[in-house]
Amino acid sequence: MRPLPSRVDRRSEGFEKNRAANLARLAALDEALAASRAGGGEKYVTRHLERGKLLPRERIELLLDRDSPFLEVCPLAGYKVGGGIKPGASIIGGVGVVSGVECLINATESTIKGGAMNEYSVLKSRRLAEIAQENRLPSINLVESAGADLPNQSKIFVPGGRAFRDLTRASKARRPTIALVFGSSTAGGAYIPGMSDYVVMVDQQARVYLAGPPLVKMATNEDADEESLGGAAMHSKVSGVSDYLAADEHEAIRLGRAIVAQLNHRKQGPPPGPVEAPLYDAEDLLGIAPPDPKIPFDVMEVIARVVDGSRFHAFKPTFGTTLVCGWASVHGHRVGVLANQGVLFSESAQKGAQFIQLCNQKDIPLLFLQNITGFMVGTAYEQGGIIKHGAKLINAVSNSTVPAITIMMGASYGAGNYAMCGRAYAPRFLFSWPHHRIAVMGGEQLAGVLDIVKRGAAARAGKDVDEMELKMMKMMLQQQIDKESDAFFATARLWDDGIIDPRDTRDVVGLALSAAFNAPVEGTMAYGVFRH
Ligand code: COA
Repeated sequence: MRPLPSRVDRRSEGFEKNRAANLARLAALDEALAASRAGGGEKYVTRHLERGKLLPRERIELLLDRDSPFLEVCPLAGYKVGGGIKPGASIIGGVGVVSGVECLINATESTIKGGAMNEYSVLKSRRLAEIAQENRLPSINLVESAGADLPNQSKIFVPGGRAFRDLTRASKARRPTIALVFGSSTAGGAYIPGMSDYVVMVDQQARVYLAGPPLVKMATNEDADEESLGGAAMHSKVSGVSDYLAADEHEAIRLGRAIVAQLNHRKQGPPPGPVEAPLYDAEDLLGIAPPDPKIPFDVMEVIARVVDGSRFHAFKPTFGTTLVCGWASVHGHRVGVLANQGVLFSESAQKGAQFIQLCNQKDIPLLFLQNITGFMVGTAYEQGGIIKHGAKLINAVSNSTVPAITIMMGASYGAGNYAMCGRAYAPRFLFSWPHHRIAVMGGEQLAGVLDIVKRGAAARAGKDVDEMELKMMKMMLQQQIDKESDAFFATARLWDDGIIDPRDTRDVVGLALSAAFNAPVEGTMAYGVFRH
């Protein structure tokens, strides 16, 4: 396979403008991530440290193999959603390597409301459990939580129960679950260690009970002390809820690493082949990707900076050219790439469906590089059956069983989002670039469509439209849609697994594929009925 050529002109005005816009946006991302890392803020962090405890991120760092990467998931869940919810939704989660094994880590951010869970924490916990399940990862819960966010209990009580079900089903599916308990784990929270396969509790810190002393007093009039009711020593020596009593947090982390080391975990996917760096600098991606999704960019230039050796074997390069399909490797893992090079036509959709079948036939994972405004519209295209051809692509995406990774680079509009394996199509991981936009359609188009509909309705009723009112309505609607299509709005609602620096795309895809290969990589040849 010969390397792809590149025609990027680093001195062009467009390159410079794109680069400046991307850097500004990345500065905003850094600021948001810093807020996520700050937990509950200085007062609560200082109080936590003064109690001689490690911060949740320090616990994760000590748990992971030295200098190994941590693929953080949804660090901006709950970003600016209001209701006192902090970015990150009081959970730090992701995939990291512990004793040589990729594990799903879920740590409660105990400096925010004592680690109490809100409705976004529930969504994030659920997403983390899904990642563990689909990729067959052992999971490690680092527990120190006040349980439900009590004033908001109605938003979380029912869906929150799923976390305990997920734990026991993981165990049934032979995916080990480990709980390291550093602090409070009360009421429902007590079932996190209660449902886990392996439990470690930190002496004099872990408190695990169905009801704390005040509730016990209210319920039975018993005067109970915390240690006898739910202390680590009691659970390790008397109740048996804990398997290991750790003298301190460091020992708990060492025990957690030792437990993972004896899990006998084996990856089921293919081992990586030789790795070759791309020929071109990933730095160029900032100059390639425009901030405005209406401005097209050449996706081959992106592929050339993501895949090993910039080597790409294009499939059907002269047919359906608005969907680039082809084979490559990323960090030694073979992938079938589907990348947008314009709107989707019938031919491009058919080509994509065929390509997905071929990848399934050969057990090759899929990498979707999304920059899609949708399917082509108009009489000629409808008569050409664009619906049924688009349906073939969506059919293939829906029923494909090889792992898929999706990167939303620019536009992600309409059925294009679905056909290119958007969130609802369950890619194993889905990350976004900072300028990506996601919606049914662009704000301007959406407001324009409503304008035509309103004028039509007024004409049918024999009334005049109030031009001023319509103009105001359009303006407000466009503003609303623009705000709701923004990458930060989307990531706050867990429509992706996080916004990444475009320069990190290759490494993020490599880590995601490696995590996915903990499960068997098995393609299917079974699809729904393809309409011809
Ligand atoms: N829901 C909402 N807010 C909570 C909360 C909860 N479950 N638990 C604690 N908070 C708030 C506190 O009101 C406090 O807010 P403030 O700083 O604005 O006053 C803040 O979180 C820190 O709590 P604090 O009690 O000072 O922290 P701590 O580290 O000393 O103690 C706990 C932590 C978890 C031991 C203690 O807060 C507690 O027992 N909480 C209730 C646990 C419980 O019974 N949960 C029911 C689960 S279903």
